[in-house]
Parts: sequence; C-alpha cells; structure tokens
Amino acid sequence: MAERQFNFSAGPGVLPESVLTEIASELPVYKDIGTSILEISHRSAPYTELAESAKSSLRQLLGMGDDWHILFLQGGASLQFYQVPLNFLPKGGSADYIVTGSWAKKAHKEALLVGDARVAASGEADSFSHIPARATWNLNPDAAYLHYTSNNTIFGTQFKDVPDVSVPLVCDASSDFLSGPIRMEGFGLIYAGAQKNMGPAGVTVVLIRDEFLTKRNGGLPTMLDYGTHIDKLFNTPPVFAVYAVEKVLRWLIGLGGLSAIQTINARKAAKLYSAIDISSFYRGTARPDSRSHMNVCFRLPDEALEKRFIVEAAAAGLQSLKGHRSAGGIRASLYNACPEEAVDALISFMREFERTNG
Ligand SMILES: Cc1ncc(COP(=O)(O)O)c(C=O)c1O
Repeated sequence: MAERQFNFSAGPGVLPESVLTEIASELPVYKDIGTSILEISHRSAPYTELAESAKSSLRQLLGMGDDWHILFLQGGASLQFYQVPLNFLPKGGSADYIVTGSWAKKAHKEALLVGDARVAASGEADSFSHIPARATWNLNPDAAYLHYTSNNTIFGTQFKDVPDVSVPLVCDASSDFLSGPIRMEGFGLIYAGAQKNMGPAGVTVVLIRDEFLTKRNGGLPTMLDYGTHIDKLFNTPPVFAVYAVEKVLRWLIGLGGLSAIQTINARKAAKLYSAIDISSFYRGTARPDSRSHMNVCFRLPDEALEKRFIVEAAAAGLQSLKGHRSAGGIRASLYNACPEEAVDALISFMREFERTNG
C-alpha cells in the first residue's frame, strides 16, 4: 500500500490514522452483524448505539448538561446560515452579526433573506486580517442573538475568547470545533460541519440549548425546523459520517480530551508561526493577536515562488498547502488529527526552500 503523506487540507481535512484503520477493519462486516454499517437501517440497534455513543462522547468532551440537544444534520454549515435565522430571527426583531471573513459574510447574507440582520462589526476594510476589537462592536442589546464565526478558515484568524455579550450567542465553529475547551454558558446554539476536526463530510453537528429552542419561530418548513429533529430521527441521518465521528470523538477522549488537544494545537501553531516570524522570506497574513491555531496563512515574496513552493512541497509529501483561491498564498491547516511531525516536516521544508530560493 502507498504511504500516507502529510495532509494540510483546509477541509475535508486529515483524520486520525487509527480511526481510518479501524473503519477499514470494519468493512465489509461490522462487528458480528453479518453486513457493514453502510447497509443497515438507521433505526437498527447498531446505528442507535453508535449515535448515542457519539452524543455521550460529545457531552463528556464539552461538559454539556441535559439542557443541551445534539443534532446530526445534513446540508453543511452553509444550510445553518439560513436555518438559524429562519428559526431564531423573529418577525419585527433583529439579530447581530460579527463579520470576520467570507463564511461570516455568507451567514449574514442568508440572514438578510429572513429579516433584519445587522452587522455589529466587520473586518472587511482590513482584508479580514484580524478580529475587530470588542470595544468597536456596535451591539443591539435587544438582538435575538449574536452570530459569530469562531475561526476564519480562509483568512486564518480566530477569536481568542467567547464574546462577552448580553444576548444569546450563535457560533459557526466549523473550523475550530473541539480544538480546545469551550465555555458553554452564553451560547444558544453552536454548529459545525464535521469535515475539519470531527470526521468526514456529510454531517453537521448542531448543539442547541433547550431554553433557546423554545424561542424559535412557528410555521416553519418541517425539515428546517430544529424541533423536528429533537430526540428523534425524522428521516435518514448521514449514517456513515456519524459512524466515523463517533470514532474520532473516542480518539479525542483517549488523547486526554479538549485541554490536552488544545495544548498540542497551541504547540503546533506556535512552532509554525515562529518559523514564519524569524524569516524575512515568509510573511504571516493574520495580525498576531488574531492568529488561528487551525489555519496558518502566509505569503512568499511573489506568486511565482508561492506556486513553486506548493508544487515542491507536494513532491516532498506535504499536501494541500495552497491558500484559498480568494486569499492566495499558502495555508497550512493544522487540525486536531494533523500530527506534530507534519508541522516539523513543513518547517524543515520551508527552511530548505528559503535557502535555495531566498
Ligand atoms: C468556518 C466555516 N463555515 C462554514 C463553512 C461551509 O461549510 P459547508 O461546506 O459544510 O457548508 C466552512 C467551510 O469550509 C467553514 O470553514
């Protein structure tokens, strides 16, 4: 079998190798059921057990009480951009949005289709290079919620703290979910596409606090009403994705949970940022106070060198380092399952590339 290379993809991203091996060992027959997990009813005992196990691991990792509901939905984080306001932006009311990147902008755009969605702060004028300072936010104390994107996958910026506001928080945590502990107080809803830190594409995890759920609008289309999916399977869930997520969550618990992975993530990111900072050849694009631990974005002196860097890195077994097409440059995504050796290998490659091209 060909060797696995180091994978810095922004998403779908790298998964723990042990999880992939376990999945391979459970195909084509899962446990003693005589068939694979892909071919049985989502109402069967094996699926029910693994979905319950995934929920209980999530509760354990995040320290969530019974006042939180956990949903495994489809449609990606992008559907949440619309589903959140559809449920929680009341007629005649308004919601606040902190726009810190392209995904946050898309979330705001969808909310405008529903009602009055105000931009309380935006980093667009500064090319989304940092998170706008809390003191500059223009908040509405009567907002139904404040929506923010905890990590900006494309521009490599990240909130360092949970925003301190008086209204319920709604968070798109797609690209830093489970990368460290979250203080759950203050949140009404958190959503995340699984395909960065949690599993393969195909499932979106939505956490909703019960008290927040009761505030939702009436008369919603069945599939888009969060209430439809609480405590029951209304339709077929993304079985394979949930099955893989369950394994990734157990892997994370085995590593020591969210504090342990946070320490590892901080170490990986610090190493790479310091390699960028000590060089005058590489230039980080995010302002140091807003730097993401998940997506490290940087530039080289010119685009021709960036192209060569990406091609030569791939030839050296360092995959998917191309920045997002809207941002250019290099982006190294260091999700939970990205091993520290991958970061070390990238730093060695960067030093050698600078020596020969600088
Ligand atoms: C922060 C963030 N939000 C939303 C999305 C969109 O997710 P999906 O493709 O699951 O709709 C992405 C995708 O990369 C993302 O990084």
